[in-house]
Order: sequence, then structure tokens, then C-alpha cells
Amino acid sequence: MAEQIPLVEMRNIKKRFGAVQALRGVDLTLHRGEVLGLVGDNAAGKSTLMKVLSGAYLPDEGQIFIEGKRVHITNPEDSRRLGIEMVYQDFALAGNLDVAANVFLGREVVRWELGPLRVMNKRAMEERARDLFDRLKIDISSVRLKVERLSGGQRQAVAIGRAVAFDAKVVIMDEPTAALSVAAIGKVLELIRELKAHQCAVILISHRLEDVYEVGDRVVVLRQGRKVADRPISGDIHEFREQIVAYMVGARDDFAAETSQPVLERSG
Ligand SMILES: Nc1ncnc2c1ncn2[C@@H]1O[C@H](COP(=O)(O)OP(=O)(O)O)[C@@H](O)[C@H]1O
Ligand SMILES: [Mg+2]
Repeated sequence: MAEQIPLVEMRNIKKRFGAVQALRGVDLTLHRGEVLGLVGDNAAGKSTLMKVLSGAYLPDEGQIFIEGKRVHITNPEDSRRLGIEMVYQDFALAGNLDVAANVFLGREVVRWELGPLRVMNKRAMEERARDLFDRLKIDISSVRLKVERLSGGQRQAVAIGRAVAFDAKVVIMDEPTAALSVAAIGKVLELIRELKAHQCAVILISHRLEDVYEVGDRVVVLRQGRKVADRPISGDIHEFREQIVAYMVGARDDFAAETSQPVLERSG
């Protein structure tokens, strides 16, 4: 197969918080329509790496390329404009607004605008939300339901629907199933498959290795701010789990040689 230009390429990403070196030069690639599992113990740097990609944090060092072009992501809007959407663990939805309003939150479909006067086109938003849910096979009876009345799984679906409403190329999910029931977890995994079927790439951070195994194409393991594994998902689940745990606890490391060289710290 011909070498493809990655959809996303992060190179040598470093990020320090005071005394904590959260990321020590991480490389990460993502291809179109790929589901990448990002795993590692607590404090390994997973969320920080994704916050760099989504514009919540500026890296101290490193570069990001989108479809081969160098980009400068300095805030969440930059990232969103590049087709990257982050779904947060707490879903960040407005409970008192209805489903359609939540899908378009912050980017309402404006019917007309005159100075400070903006009239939202509520019907257009409802129709677009309905279309979107049908397209993604999301089961929500009415887009006029208040979000506070939805189950955890349905809220998750709305948050993901919102992410793809504007043709995201990448959806980042940070522990999306942490607060969900088993049935709702199944729905989120279905949704990930649906995103993939629509050529949307997904980066899934999860402690649930069985989920990563089930929907993932590839897995990256971080440990103490470094990438220690980057491999396609294959073999049986027991083998997979055993290997990943070995990387997580430091018993295995595919990139050890690269960083055992003395590293010249740049000053200033
Ligand atoms: N905003 C921040 N301020 C200070 N330290 C932070 C901040 N964000 C993350 N860290 C630290 O960076 C390290 C990596 O954190 P994080 O990326 O959240 O790990 P993970 O998501 O893998 O659990 C941890 O030691 C964490 O305490
Ligand atoms: Mg985290």
C-alpha cells in the first residue's frame, strides 16, 4: 500500500507544568478514519497530549501537521477550524437547553443578523440536528427534549453528534465511558464505529482496554510522558491486555533506545 500522508502528525511534543514534565517529546500520527486508542496509567500525559491537539494547552516544543501542512494551534477555535473536536468527559452540555440547541451551542444557525440583533433559525437547527442523529443512528426521540432529561448515554451521543455536526475530521474522546452503564458503553462504541464509517478519525482515551481492543485499529501507550508503544491491534484480547499492561507498567518499551541517548537540553 502506498504511504499515506497522515491526517494528523504530532512531532516531539513537550509540555512541562512547573516541576512536572508531563510530555517528554511525544510523536503521534493519525490516519483518516482510523480509531486510535490512547492508553496509559494515571498521569501518563494522555489528556495533556490531547489538550495540545485541541488547543487547550500550548506545547513548550514540538510541531503539529494536518494533512502534511504545519499548523499552529493556539486555542480551541484554531483546532476546531482544522476539523478537530474534543468531547469532554463531563460532556459539557447545557442541561436546561434542548437537544437541538445543544448541538449548535455557540454556533447557532443565524437566520439574519442586524447589528446586535440575531434571530436564530430554530427550525433549521432542529432539522439539521434530526438529520445528524439519523445519519449517526443516534436514538433520540425528539430534538426538543431538554438535555437534563436524557440518560448518560444519550448525553454522550449528543456531545459526539455536536462534534461531527460541522464535519469534524477527528473526534477526541477523553474517557467517554467513565461514567456510563454497560449498555451505554455499548452505544458509545457503536457511535465510534459509525464515526469511522463516515471517515471520521477517533482518538479514544480509555482505561477500558476491552473497549480499545474492540473498536480500535491501533494503540499508543504513554508512560511518564513518553510513548512506549505504537502498534496495530491484533491477536486475541488476553494477549492484547497482557502486552498493553506490560507497556503501562514499564516492563516493555519499544522506544527505550531512542531516549536512552543523552538528551541535550536547549537553554532559554
Ligand atoms: N494544568 C496542569 N497543571 C499542572 N499539572 C498538570 C496540569 N495538567 C496536567 N498536569 C500534570 O501532568 C501530568 C500528566 O497529566 P495528564 O495529562 O492529565 O495525565 P493522564 O490524562 O494520562 O492521566 C500529571 O502529573 C498531571 O498532574
Ligand atoms: Mg486524563
